[in-house]
Amino acid sequence: MDTNQFVPSHTFPSNGSGQVCWEAPSNIALVKYWGKREPQIPLNPSVSFTLDTCRTKTSLSYSPRNNASAWFEVYLDGERKPGFEPKITKFFERISAYCPFLWDYHWRIETSNSFPHSSGIASSASGMAALAMALVEVEQQLSGVKFDEIQMKTKASFLARLGSGSACRSIDGGLVVWGVHDEVDGSNDLFGVRLNDSFAPIFKTYHDTIMLVHQGQKVVSSTVGHGLMHGHPYAEQRFERARANLSSLLAVLRSGDLDEFIRIVEAEALDLHAMMLTSDPNFILMKPGTLQILEAVREYRKSSGNHLCFTLDAGANAHLLYPDNEAIEVLEFIKNKLAHYCENGAYICDQVGSGVKKC
Ligand code: DP6
Repeated sequence: MDTNQFVPSHTFPSNGSGQVCWEAPSNIALVKYWGKREPQIPLNPSVSFTLDTCRTKTSLSYSPRNNASAWFEVYLDGERKPGFEPKITKFFERISAYCPFLWDYHWRIETSNSFPHSSGIASSASGMAALAMALVEVEQQLSGVKFDEIQMKTKASFLARLGSGSACRSIDGGLVVWGVHDEVDGSNDLFGVRLNDSFAPIFKTYHDTIMLVHQGQKVVSSTVGHGLMHGHPYAEQRFERARANLSSLLAVLRSGDLDEFIRIVEAEALDLHAMMLTSDPNFILMKPGTLQILEAVREYRKSSGNHLCFTLDAGANAHLLYPDNEAIEVLEFIKNKLAHYCENGAYICDQVGSGVKKC
């Protein structure tokens, strides 16, 4: 796959101005991306459900840059956030070959999340995806060249990946694969591809209730976390297992075999944490409440016969996954038996969604 296809062949004026606004959702990986090489190339393929309720909305205004003004300003909920600038600077520099107009303009980035910033839910995937969509729209406004929906989403996913790897899976809806895998047509390391609709309908309406066991800063940033896979004693086995788990999961996504889905998804979550438990330095990212939730989920599954399972990101919050036809009973269980393990009893009900939206 060639990155040159994302370098524009058209020219851009330097005296335009305008404003665009996009919303992008978060996503939850079923097979985890953990380990990368420059420039944001994953060391194994991953697949995620695109979520719906957890979103970032980003308005991007641009006007000609003059020498006196800053290159860009970032606001979260109306408040200027200089702390976000290093990450955006790095992102802009990385994508400037693909968005050469970036240098000529001053950018005002106004962003807000549908979930509390302190909730421990990473906003980088939804944030970078929304910003990438906004930039692709600006590219079209400035050049006058119209992209079709696929071209637009493909370029946005490619750009978003350079901001945060998992962000490339937050553009399209449903199930998105990122990283080369023999069994997924068109899969590649540069952008996410939506799995076509041949998967079982039960997965189109899956729920994800996010248990906010620990709200606040992550113990280990994803950049540091991915770095721990270099020289990790189990790295090669982990990458191989992720590829094998993705193969098995693809079959499950077609067949709708929920017991097998649960087996693979929970194994992936625990593999991710096993990598952090065995890296140097090592990290224990689960909290006592996390473990209590995981155990209670397994007991509930046995006693109820419902198909509730868990997955984890690189933190203490547990994502609880279940099919729509069991949602009423499962939610009762979550509310009555699990919510007290969360900080202030907080959890967020989300489900599979359809990807980015213009606002
Ligand atoms: C554990 O995409 O946040 O959520 O590329 O460094 O920005 P960077 O990392 P990031 O890593 C996400 C890792 C994960 C698993 C996953 O979403 O696949």
